[in-house]
Amino acid sequence: EHMPDLVVVGAGLFGLTVAQQAAERAGAHVLVIDVRDHIGGNAYSYMDEETGAEIHRYGAHLFHTSNRRVWDYVNRFTSFTGYVHRVYATHDGEVYPLPINLGTINQFFHAHYTPAEAKALVEEQAGELAGTDPQNLNDKGVQLIGRPLYEAFIKNYTGKQWQTDPSQLPADIIKRLPVRFNYDNRYFKDTWEGLPTDGYTAWMERMAADPRIEVRLGVDFFDSSQPWNKAALVGKVPVVYTGPVDRYFDYELGDLKWRTVDFKEVRYDEGDHFGCPVMNYSDADVPYTRAIEFKNFNPERADRQNPDRTVVWQEYSRFAERGDEPYYPVNTEADRKLYAAYEAKAAAEPQVVFGGRLGTYKYYDMHQVIDTALTAYDERVAPMLAR
Ligand code: FAD
Ligand code: NA
Repeated sequence: EHMPDLVVVGAGLFGLTVAQQAAERAGAHVLVIDVRDHIGGNAYSYMDEETGAEIHRYGAHLFHTSNRRVWDYVNRFTSFTGYVHRVYATHDGEVYPLPINLGTINQFFHAHYTPAEAKALVEEQAGELAGTDPQNLNDKGVQLIGRPLYEAFIKNYTGKQWQTDPSQLPADIIKRLPVRFNYDNRYFKDTWEGLPTDGYTAWMERMAADPRIEVRLGVDFFDSSQPWNKAALVGKVPVVYTGPVDRYFDYELGDLKWRTVDFKEVRYDEGDHFGCPVMNYSDADVPYTRAIEFKNFNPERADRQNPDRTVVWQEYSRFAERGDEPYYPVNTEADRKLYAAYEAKAAAEPQVVFGGRLGTYKYYDMHQVIDTALTAYDERVAPMLAR
């Protein structure tokens, strides 16, 4: 078969951004392969026929950015709805707004504190462990926001995320716990946010629409029985690799650690179960961390949604094994050292650019992945194509 000018491994946002740039700016013929049966990587979504909900297959995805270059770029392929992200939490039989704000505090203490009074109270409660050097998550949390709020809203949620009792979790999992001393419960602080008007998958299909881009699905880069595999390509054609960096080297230095999420789908005979898209569960008695009601991400589609049925996904967090979907880097000191060793090997690979969250072992939001892909194209891919 005819060799493309560039092979991109992974049809996620990193791979699609590089492919789009290479086709448009260098006129390159780009082959994008993905082992999955769909494009879009973890940002992929599909329409649920029964309810009319757009289900984010790999967990809820909210687009937000303050980066002008990224915002201009993504708007070439999709418009965005006016969705503004807000999260609520169930604790001890009541629903509270998050992140912790004056509304949360006044509801929790059955009070009507002013911002200054609430701030003084939280500081006083945080003073319980003043001057100590917290060694575990509980002590750190108490020191940041005081015991009552920490134990109600942070302790058990974080414990469920890590499947570990917070007294056994290292203090540095949490650097800061933002508390807002006003009623603003808008989740993101970015200049722009919203959801793609006709869905994530339509957005990403448009990124691949250039006729010089060919996407082949169900193709594993490490399967030597198909022509577009590692041994056949590396050193012969420029490659952009967005799969796991440890997998690329056959885990020869060890496995990088990740957390993953299992989803349990529940359907209800109601038009609206929560009245919001995201409900966190702050207490230990509910085994999942949060539940997503996808219909409520897109209220502007009400006329195309089923008024009598809704679908909810409950999220269970756990450590990933090989073969699970790697979602969040665990990122201990040992992991960072191991990644540095893989990174050195990656840098020595001929004509291979490692990118994206799996290729660089980093938690990136979508806007960060797109930004790093635009930079990687300019600095590393374009020079290879010019040769
Ligand atoms: P991916 O999307 O993972 O794409 C990599 C692709 O490579 C995959 O499609 C994979 O199948 C393919 N691949 C891997 N190995 C091979 C192989 N051997 N052969 C062929 N193909 C291969 N970001 C936000 O901005 N807002 C959010 O609200 C948000 N929520 C998130 C929630 C969860 C649960 C997760 C996990 C992530 C979330 N993100 C969010 C981050 C977002 O998903 C990523 O920033 C983005 O999707 C990463 O793009 P990528 O191209 O780097 O990786
Ligand atoms: Na195409």
